[in-house]
Amino acid sequence: SDNYPQVKRNTQFKKLTSDDLEYFQSILSPQELIVAKDRDDLNFYNTDWTHKYKGQSNIVIKPKSVEKISLIMNYCNKERIAVVPQGGNTDLVGGSVPIFDELILSLSNLNKIRSFDELTGILKCDAGAILEEVDNYLKDNGHLFPLDLGAKGSCQIGGCVATNAGGQRLIRYGSLHGNVLGLEVVLPDGTIMDSMHSLRKDNTGYDLKQLFIGSEGTIGIITGISILTPTNPKATNVSFLAVNDFKDIETVFKKAKSDLNEIMSAFEFMDMKSMKLTKKHLGEVDGTMSFPLENDYPFYILIETSGSNKDHDDAKLEKFLEDVMGDGTVVDGTMAQDVSEIEHLWKWREMIPESCQSEGAVYKYDVSLPLSQLYSLVELTNAKVKKDGLLYDAETNPEGQVIGAVGYGHIGDGNLHLNVATKEYNKTIEKCLEPYVYEAVSDLKGSISAEHGIGFQKKKYLHYSKSPVEIKLMKDIKNHFDPHGVLNPYKYV
Ligand code: FAD
Ligand code: MLT
Ligand code: ZN
Repeated sequence: SDNYPQVKRNTQFKKLTSDDLEYFQSILSPQELIVAKDRDDLNFYNTDWTHKYKGQSNIVIKPKSVEKISLIMNYCNKERIAVVPQGGNTDLVGGSVPIFDELILSLSNLNKIRSFDELTGILKCDAGAILEEVDNYLKDNGHLFPLDLGAKGSCQIGGCVATNAGGQRLIRYGSLHGNVLGLEVVLPDGTIMDSMHSLRKDNTGYDLKQLFIGSEGTIGIITGISILTPTNPKATNVSFLAVNDFKDIETVFKKAKSDLNEIMSAFEFMDMKSMKLTKKHLGEVDGTMSFPLENDYPFYILIETSGSNKDHDDAKLEKFLEDVMGDGTVVDGTMAQDVSEIEHLWKWREMIPESCQSEGAVYKYDVSLPLSQLYSLVELTNAKVKKDGLLYDAETNPEGQVIGAVGYGHIGDGNLHLNVATKEYNKTIEKCLEPYVYEAVSDLKGSISAEHGIGFQKKKYLHYSKSPVEIKLMKDIKNHFDPHGVLNPYKYV
């Protein structure tokens, strides 16, 4: 399609034959193998979440055991059959769908909790377990998953580890590189690496699991995860605040770090345009959702606290809010009174991604930048789109295809989500935005991927964030693990 730049199918990869299908049928039950009868049968598996990328695979396999995955990889590696590992397919960089006819290997049938130790908080589970289900299981046992994100209802633990997803709790609990204690991985030739350790301290040589965290299915298929989970805090508060100037966010953040300190569990920001899109979209899909504040403001902040003593937390938060509202830094705000209000406030943040593409399409950029310069990227992008004559305006430019660039994200981690909402995907818009956005990020010494990864979208832009030496070493690692390149080809490095 128009969204697939000049890549050609690698002719070294075999086109599936009836013999291959027979082999798959010999080890998989009918529930573990879907063969397309019709062109659109496998749309869900072939199309990414943003509907930007679409592959043409005819077969999805969903093995129920690690041993079956091992047999299949061994066979595919020998036969040079290209394979795309797929979790919940919520990836935002075109990494989880085939580019051509690669075999889709879905982890969704490998979804059990293997064990949980309440004393240490160490959980072992299959890669295909859904994040929200695991989080609910942990909450029933007094703990919680150290990662939370808007896609929790669909994304899998294995997919999250494969992308090294960040999300809303990273500010409190750190990244998966710190929390994952062990992995079980099927290597491209079918070898099973059982590294399901449950030790917090283990300095016995190279930390191999780290290579697979964030490797986006390019060097192995993650089948099991051992992870440290924190105790579920007894008290949670969420406040939704408004400020007039981006600089004020910095002031509020600095104060929150010092006054809320150890109880702060999220510090997110949203700009006015992202909230306007969300108001419109939520109005259409859920007319009952009222906006938390009466007026519109240039920027909003969502702060979550979670601690062990409600009275202490409430007192800290009230004093903090009195201060920032008293000196005029925060100009309006509200605080959730119960669990349903907490969920309601979070929804205004978590529905932004869906709202950004509700006008037709969205160009997504997920970047790390120094906090003080973070929002300038949104302003620069809007100016560029306007200069190129693409910005829609009912009166002056009704033909414009771009609704606008909006900014939101995990600002406490220096992570901006720049989303350019558009009416469709087309080459003119892409040329206006790329490499412009990546160059701007590189000039500001940021990262072109804070948490979503490289996938297909950013492969050719990797050099904006990695040196030639780093890219060479990454290629060496890929070749070491996957000399025939059968795992998730055309992506990453
Ligand atoms: P998929 O999308 O299926 O796959 C992701 C990548 O990992 C692909 O390259 C795939 O080939 C590979 N892969 C999947 N499973 C395995 C496996 N078992 N072994 C090896 N490789 C595998 N990301 C963030 O970091 N923070 C956020 O806050 C966040 N919020 C999101 C909100 C929404 C609404 C959506 C749609 C996405 C969001 N994401 C976020 C993107 C994020 O990458 C995913 O939600 C999640 O990490 C992907 O999990 P998944 O199971 O859907 O994996
Ligand atoms: C988020 O923080 O909402 C996610 O990373 C998803 C997105 O930006 O679209
Ligand atoms: Zn995010």
